[in-house]
Amino acid sequence: MTKAILIALLGLLAACTAVPAYFPQIDDLDRNDRRDYLQYLQALQTPQEVPATVFSTDGQGLGQVSSVGVDSNGDLFVFHRADRPWTAETFEDFKDTLSENFKSPIQKETIYKLNPVTGKVITKLGANFFNVPHGMNFDANDSLWLTDVGRHQVFRMPKGASTPDLILGEQFVPGNDETHFCKPTDVVVASNGQFFVTDGYCNSRVLKFDENGKFLAQWGTQTGDSELTPYTLDIPHSAALVEELDLVCVADRENSRAICYNAGVTSNRKVGEYNRTIVHRGEMGKVFSIYFNKAEKELVAAGEISTVPYVDRGELEFLPRAFTYSLDGRNLQQWAPITLSIAQDGPSLIHDLCTSKDGQEFFLGDVMQQKIFKYTKVTAPVIG
Ligand SMILES: *[C@@H]1O[C@H](CO)[C@@H](O)[C@H](O)[C@H]1NC(C)=O
Ligand SMILES: *[C@@H]1O[C@H](CO)[C@@H](O)[C@H](O)[C@H]1NC(C)=O
Repeated sequence: MTKAILIALLGLLAACTAVPAYFPQIDDLDRNDRRDYLQYLQALQTPQEVPATVFSTDGQGLGQVSSVGVDSNGDLFVFHRADRPWTAETFEDFKDTLSENFKSPIQKETIYKLNPVTGKVITKLGANFFNVPHGMNFDANDSLWLTDVGRHQVFRMPKGASTPDLILGEQFVPGNDETHFCKPTDVVVASNGQFFVTDGYCNSRVLKFDENGKFLAQWGTQTGDSELTPYTLDIPHSAALVEELDLVCVADRENSRAICYNAGVTSNRKVGEYNRTIVHRGEMGKVFSIYFNKAEKELVAAGEISTVPYVDRGELEFLPRAFTYSLDGRNLQQWAPITLSIAQDGPSLIHDLCTSKDGQEFFLGDVMQQKIFKYTKVTAPVIG
């Protein structure tokens, strides 16, 4: 369907039916949201260039999709919350401690291995262990690294195993020292085994450990009322490693940006020192996920565009919510807008994303619609 037809159809829809509650009118937004939105629109320079070939995992028991990853074989993994969504009751008084009622682990499997072509489940694991699944990535040995914000812990699960062989943090005990986390969001592992943890919802820091789990370094402080610096963070939510540049890049979610720091993995540069900003404030909404597409040497980020689809003067706007950046921070492509068919299934939020082994496909995990969308890369024509 061409864009023109789609817009005509939507005009008709807007004229005939009440616009659903999640399509806000620009006048309904408060001043801050409106400013963010307008800034965001200004930042849009290229049209959406990556058409969706959406693949959905409906009907296979996926709960809130928290994370997606691809192993060295190219299989797609999803870490999800099965029949136990994260709700307002999950933590005591909206604070850091898991509520008593949620301290028994999710009984169902929280990790699925999926066929990356069909989306069908190959195997399921991770039953009776996790409380509030959050981040997931693979290391060079195909071990799964996972974080659980309810348990306040980080885990390594060797390939083929169903229990972890390394656990960091103290179960159910939030903290901010070298052996405690507070709702840790993500973990990424370098090829030499050193790893980084973004911590998290209640701490505002990034930690580095050696290959045995020994603490090496940390940086980041809470974003207070004072000026925003590269070291003031507000929910570091996702991390990506770019080893060829010795960078660890962090999605600073609530500050709507993504920043790279020296990783100290492949160079002698001091770990945790600011190196560059990839996603600037105002470029997209809150940045939920950042991922290094190794095969294509590009960074991919997913943002929350809380106000889309969006009706402005009777016209529905489709805003991209996934962005591709070159390693020097140039915004290359903007894609994955909410479409009418996505919106019809209710609110949608991309919580994590990853790419296929060959770097030509993107998997986007939707925490609200509880499924995964697959997009295929389109190479922009070379100009000149
Ligand atoms: C992979 O396993 C080998 C052998 O156990 C180990 O020496 C290496 O550090 C591991 N790599 C990572 C990234 O953990
Ligand atoms: C940032 O990273 C690049 C690529 O690794 C490196 O050449 C440069 O020296 C770094 N800059 C700083 C200020 O650390």
